[in-house]
Amino acid sequence: MPASISDIRLLLKVKKLPRCAEARRVFITGGTGYLGSSLIPVLLERGHHVRGLVRPTSKRNLPGGCEVVSGDALDARTYQNLIRPSDTFIHLVGVSNPSPAKAADFRAIDLVSAREAIHAAAELRVPHFIYLSVAHPAPVMKAYTAVRAECEDLIRQRGLNATVLRPWYVLGPGHRWPYALLPVYKVAEVLPFTRQGAMRLGLVTLEQMVMALVQAVESPVQGLKVVDVPAIRAAQDSLAREVTRQTA
Ligand SMILES: NC(=O)c1ccc[n+]([C@@H]2O[C@H](COP(=O)([O-])OP(=O)(O)OC[C@H]3O[C@@H](n4cnc5c(N)ncnc54)[C@H](OP(=O)(O)O)[C@@H]3O)[C@@H](O)[C@H]2O)c1
Repeated sequence: MPASISDIRLLLKVKKLPRCAEARRVFITGGTGYLGSSLIPVLLERGHHVRGLVRPTSKRNLPGGCEVVSGDALDARTYQNLIRPSDTFIHLVGVSNPSPAKAADFRAIDLVSAREAIHAAAELRVPHFIYLSVAHPAPVMKAYTAVRAECEDLIRQRGLNATVLRPWYVLGPGHRWPYALLPVYKVAEVLPFTRQGAMRLGLVTLEQMVMALVQAVESPVQGLKVVDVPAIRAAQDSLAREVTRQTA
């Protein structure tokens, strides 16, 4: 079931897209959060099978239609045998409401959960790993971005076929305060010495983010692909082009 009006609007848009030629089997962690709960109904709508790993206390928070399994995202031994036969592993676990005060939590939760997921995916040779990282480098939130960069290095070291998405802030229901910054972004995007940073650390909408994740699921890569803010913003168009190409 979609969670909000914006989710319903997104689902209606998605219904108009041509179906993806190949249904994927997706294993997802962090599916109960802000991004995961909007993403899962869209993946289901597009014909993919979704198995969500949750901690026992969050079982009821996964969107309907998704297969629910429980385990501890901080210890892959508790869920490794639940990953197969998935061909796609999406890792979304992270500390909620990140702030500089949560530096220790980033290492205890974001880093540990990603490390466990990466090792498990590598051991089981999962064909495609999708990691929700964060835009970097950035002048703020150093502890947060450092952990994400560390996780991306680990993905490289383990040789995973992976798509790494790097949003900075995702605007949507309950996540609107940065709209106030849009005029600042507009100015920074046109000035030559701030343009690159403003693009890298730009704001994206929940719809753009979900579409970028769907595109990642439907276009598995060989090697490592980084999807930055401009590519996240363009995802909807490129998804439609890719689906048309696959179904032609
Ligand atoms: N939203 C943004 O603007 C944004 C921007 C850049 C990067 N990101 C990254 O994208 C990912 C998803 O973001 P989001 O906004 O959807 O996050 P969110 O709403 O805070 O959801 C976080 C998810 O992580 C799970 N989680 C947290 N701590 C856990 C723990 N100790 N053990 C097991 N699961 C745990 C939560 O499960 P429970 O439901 O059980 O608590 C939830 O499913 C995060 O890694 C975030 O850092 C988000």
